[in-house]
Amino acid sequence: MRRILVAGNWKMNKTPAETEGFIEAFLPTIAGLGRVEIAIFPPFTSLDRAGRLLEGTTIRLGGQDLHFETSGAYTGAISASMLVACGCRYVLVGHSERRRLFGDDDRIVRLKLEAALSSGLFPILCVGEGTEERRRGDSEGVVTDQLSSALDALDPERIVIAYEPIWAIGTGQTATPQIAEGMASAIRGWVSSRFGGEAGGRVRSLYGGSVNPDNAGAIMGEPDIDGVLVGGASLDPAKFASIVRSGVSVGGRDV
Ligand code: 13P
Repeated sequence: MRRILVAGNWKMNKTPAETEGFIEAFLPTIAGLGRVEIAIFPPFTSLDRAGRLLEGTTIRLGGQDLHFETSGAYTGAISASMLVACGCRYVLVGHSERRRLFGDDDRIVRLKLEAALSSGLFPILCVGEGTEERRRGDSEGVVTDQLSSALDALDPERIVIAYEPIWAIGTGQTATPQIAEGMASAIRGWVSSRFGGEAGGRVRSLYGGSVNPDNAGAIMGEPDIDGVLVGGASLDPAKFASIVRSGVSVGGRDV
């Protein structure tokens, strides 16, 4: 069974007090919605407080990034074990903003995945093409290259893959459900050909890029899409809860 995952990437938003306000407003709105897995990704400075507030709830916590070293002289960096100590289960790796703005190249993405896995975290590997690559018809090639360099010998079943086309992030220009499904199916096909059909059937594949309460249901209704990675709309407890409810009607996929 691939369970639907609705994940909220808050990016550089919300202080610890604002994080607490979100959680207090959000929890009652999703009470009893057991069929969907929910995860939030606050900034590092809010993780400890969020971890304490979410203890005993079904909501998972994740980090937006990590460093691949375990400790040492890496000013400004956060290790996998620090995320685990705050209560994180997930970590985003290779988000396009990290790749474009902070220089996370394929080698670093790979090292971060390894660091996450070896400390027991479940990485969400983000992949996706830019506007120009899509215009050239290279979308699938870009995504499968990113998968090849990141996943070569790693266990794909411990990793969630999120397709986040750069042209859809923060633009309001969501991929159509057909485009999102086409890439989710290509990703599943790639995992099957590299790691076997069982792995391809079991790996969870998310879509991210301008997901909102109006489009989330159609996207999660597609057969190869197992959830969404939401940016802007995840900052508002009511909008995020509405996206979660869209996921509840889909439930999960029998594989
Ligand atoms: P938006 O939902 O704001 O487009 O952001 C998507 C994203 O980057 C999630 O990781």
